Amino acid sequence: MGGAPQRPAKIRIQGLNKVFPAENGDFRALSGVDLHLGDGEFVSLLGPSGCGKSTLLRLIAGLESITSGSLEVDGRSLDGPPAGLGMVFQRDVLLDWRSILDNVLLPVEFAGGRRDDYVTRARDLLVQYGLAGFEDRHPWQLSGGMRQRAAICRALILDPSFLIMDEPFGALDALTRDELNIELQRLWQTTRKSVLFVTHSIAEAVFLSDRVVVMATRPGRIVETIAIDLPRPRDLAIRETASFGRYSAHIRDLFERHGVLRTKPS
Ligand SMILES: Nc1ncnc2c1ncn2[C@@H]1O[C@H](COP(=O)(O)OP(=O)(O)O)[C@@H](O)[C@H]1O
Ligand SMILES: [Mg+2]
Repeated sequence: MGGAPQRPAKIRIQGLNKVFPAENGDFRALSGVDLHLGDGEFVSLLGPSGCGKSTLLRLIAGLESITSGSLEVDGRSLDGPPAGLGMVFQRDVLLDWRSILDNVLLPVEFAGGRRDDYVTRARDLLVQYGLAGFEDRHPWQLSGGMRQRAAICRALILDPSFLIMDEPFGALDALTRDELNIELQRLWQTTRKSVLFVTHSIAEAVFLSDRVVVMATRPGRIVETIAIDLPRPRDLAIRETASFGRYSAHIRDLFERHGVLRTKPS
């Protein structure tokens, strides 16, 4: 009887299939996907291009509908975008004609909120993310890393309970990416928001996650879910440890077995 209470599920997906109809036969983008994101958990989806990562996020964001199976957010099936969701994409989709402050405030307008009620919070977020003094600049005046920080502030403005992030650091140089990994870990540790994070970097997935969900293509599916039992907070040097290396090697093996990656020179 009893035992530790189960963490409530933020996202629960069972037997999910997604098919895109096409003239020359239907395309199975996702097949038999089971996925669980616990409240306050950090989970990465890791897989090659075309395995359906973005499609899965779009389904969770209520932007597409599932073909079959079940998908629940906070215990409810979706009939549109779920409440309390923040999103960050690889391309930051900031609006060039608006200031950084006004970009951060965009979700407030979409939600029909009062701008004035959120200006202080927006400014505070920009300070926290190293963008103090850039409030009135425009996106084209910022570096890629700064733009992505602004996109994170925008995702946080309505204080979402969960975040979905689609390769948010994929277009950044390696050092900026490292820096943003550290910042994201800090954000997660201080707020305990549930995060579903998409990447195709093995190191990034292992570094950030409680669990890494490894996917393969044709059809897009989950091949294994790996719990990352490394102490937190993690610093970048953890990537040079033996235990980190074992997780990475295991995932590389999985990719090799599923024809995603050839790891040996021929
Ligand atoms: N709206 C759509 N119509 C038809 N095919 C799609 C659509 N969206 C995605 N796909 C296909 O589904 C597959 C998975 O795409 P995607 O989810 O973008 O993969 P990933 O993000 O893992 O690279 C791809 O082959 C893509 O071409
Ligand atoms: Mg994608």
